[in-house]
Amino acid sequence: MDPKLIAPSILAADFTKLGAELNTVERAGADAIHIDIMDGHFVPNFSMGPDIVKAVRGVTTLPLDVHLMITNPDQYIPYFIKAGADWISVHVEASRHIDRTVRAIKTADLKAGVALNPSTSLSTLDWMLDQVDYVLILGVNTGFGGQQFIPYTLEKIRLLRTIIRGKNLSTLIETDGGINESTIQEIAAAGVNIFVAGSSIFGSQDYEVTIKNFRNIISVAK
Ligand code: DX5
Ligand code: ZN
Repeated sequence: MDPKLIAPSILAADFTKLGAELNTVERAGADAIHIDIMDGHFVPNFSMGPDIVKAVRGVTTLPLDVHLMITNPDQYIPYFIKAGADWISVHVEASRHIDRTVRAIKTADLKAGVALNPSTSLSTLDWMLDQVDYVLILGVNTGFGGQQFIPYTLEKIRLLRTIIRGKNLSTLIETDGGINESTIQEIAAAGVNIFVAGSSIFGSQDYEVTIKNFRNIISVAK
């Protein structure tokens, strides 16, 4: 049975009480914590750095899923490893030597992911698919939370699912951006394993109700 995991993105959390937000979302049933790292170069926004990852590590035992939206990822990966990341994803658009980058993450015994912006072709992964633990398909243009899911990325997820099955690989598919109550059914049916959701969880009244609802939808999605 394919794993189905829900990873709340703390980009949408209330930073004035991040520790409490993490406790609440962990108790609410989150499977991992997604942390968006933005550098103002690769994406037109800034967010968090290794110190936040370290702080988050101190208050949760859940896996930390670090999504690097930065240029020169190779230079900074060691800092995120040291800070306590469990999974690190790097954009193919940002790494000149993605093979080397993925090897560096795996050599440190972390799960390595490659991320693709909406318009980036799956063919960029032709020679990498069997080497990565997961592929992160962005459902929005990276840089901001709260954007609308771009429908054509569903087709990309379906195609990736078909390729992974065809090659008999265990590579997981993660999707990030625009996941909410109205979009999650189709996204789950397309074959996603890891669902990243920011505003739809942290913007909701009751995180537990929202996560349970997502889980119900995912479990019956066809
Ligand atoms: C977008 C980030 C996402 C973001 C998702 O650049 O990578 O992780 O937090 O936010 P929502 O779920 O609000 O679309
Ligand atoms: Zn993200």
